[in-house]
Amino acid sequence: SADLLADTLGRPLRDLRISVTDRCNFRCSYCMPKEIFDNRYTFLPHAQLLSFEEITRVARLFAGLGVRKLRLTGGEPLLRKNLEHLVEMLAGVRGPDGEPLDLTLTTNGSLLARKAAALKAAGLKRLTVSLDALDDSIFQRMNDVGFPVADVLAGIDQALQVGFGPIKVNMVVKRGVNDSQVLPMARYFRERYGRQATLRFIEFMDVGATNGWCLDDVVPSAELLGRIGAEWPLRPLDAVVAGETAERWAYADGLGEIGLISSVTQAFCHDCNRARLSTEGQLFLCLFGSRGHDLRALLRGGASDDEIMGAVAQIWSARSDRYSELRGSATFAESSERRVEMHYIGG
Ligand code: GTP
Ligand code: 5AD
Ligand code: SF4
Ligand code: SF4
Repeated sequence: SADLLADTLGRPLRDLRISVTDRCNFRCSYCMPKEIFDNRYTFLPHAQLLSFEEITRVARLFAGLGVRKLRLTGGEPLLRKNLEHLVEMLAGVRGPDGEPLDLTLTTNGSLLARKAAALKAAGLKRLTVSLDALDDSIFQRMNDVGFPVADVLAGIDQALQVGFGPIKVNMVVKRGVNDSQVLPMARYFRERYGRQATLRFIEFMDVGATNGWCLDDVVPSAELLGRIGAEWPLRPLDAVVAGETAERWAYADGLGEIGLISSVTQAFCHDCNRARLSTEGQLFLCLFGSRGHDLRALLRGGASDDEIMGAVAQIWSARSDRYSELRGSATFAESSERRVEMHYIGG
């Protein structure tokens, strides 16, 4: 049965991350560098995207295979027209015991002030906002389209206002680019929101093939822990659920917590329970995959629910991916095949 579904390393399927658009209004250099994603770059035409009905069907079938969490990503998911409608449809998907799934979304926050209330009303449960700096010139250099940080901060305020607390804020740390922002970010979120916001520091990863990754750019989480802990003492917290990406640390003075996502220095593949659905319906089993499995062909080719579930079960059972654990090892060279881009598959 569904609960027995496990891959070759014994990992269950629990988390489906759905990319709803490959477009973004930012050009973060570590994700969609301007030189490549310019006005000659061709994004997917509308007919190639999975429709809301198709996405909802996939989500329902995956729920039957053990998925308990849905995350909407992009690109920037709030650019997808009528996204609230999709949220409403997904909020209606039930697990085997009739309980709704955990339903969450990752956004760059640029359109959040405008959309937070509608998303809440549609049934979105949780929200993660990506934010790499508080300093406007650093932030604008990172998003590379001159987007002001004040608008993202207003979006976060508005999200909390309409009841999305506690929210998570994700900061990708790149040495020499925004590591000066680590303490100011920590201070801002703990003092302004306390437990209502959890700031999470992400080690810059070598996803995709266009971001010019180099190990020197990574600030190891252990170093961040030292820097932040010297300012505000921290104590470790237990994981809430198995397979979590972040290691959690609480401020000893009670002003909330932080998270450390250390996929470079401390890979967490051993209990990775995440699958990713691209904007055009390709199923990826790893963030660092190079090839997806074409679910759209099944969806549009008249396959029955059972046929699709059977196919996915087979794909998941054969899964052996553990890219981050292999990075740096001898096997690494074998996996250096062109990798999927993060804007296409989502965080
Ligand atoms: P919640 O804590 O339940 O909100 O979900 P989450 O921890 O999966 O959070 P989120 O989707 O915000 O992921 C945070 C970041 O962790 C992503 O933006 C990625 O940078 C990184 N990440 C997430 N999943 C993976 C993964 O499977 N592998 C690797 N290497 N990195 C991941
Ligand atoms: N390394 C780490 N995180 C990344 N993200 C995008 N590219 C990278 C990378 N190279 C993060 C974004 C956002 C999420 C969607 O993925 O900052 O939080
Ligand atoms: Fe857009 Fe997020 Fe990629 Fe930045 S990291 S370009 S906001 S999808
Ligand atoms: Fe999962 Fe692949 Fe990330 Fe490892 S590298 S945690 S297997 S998505």
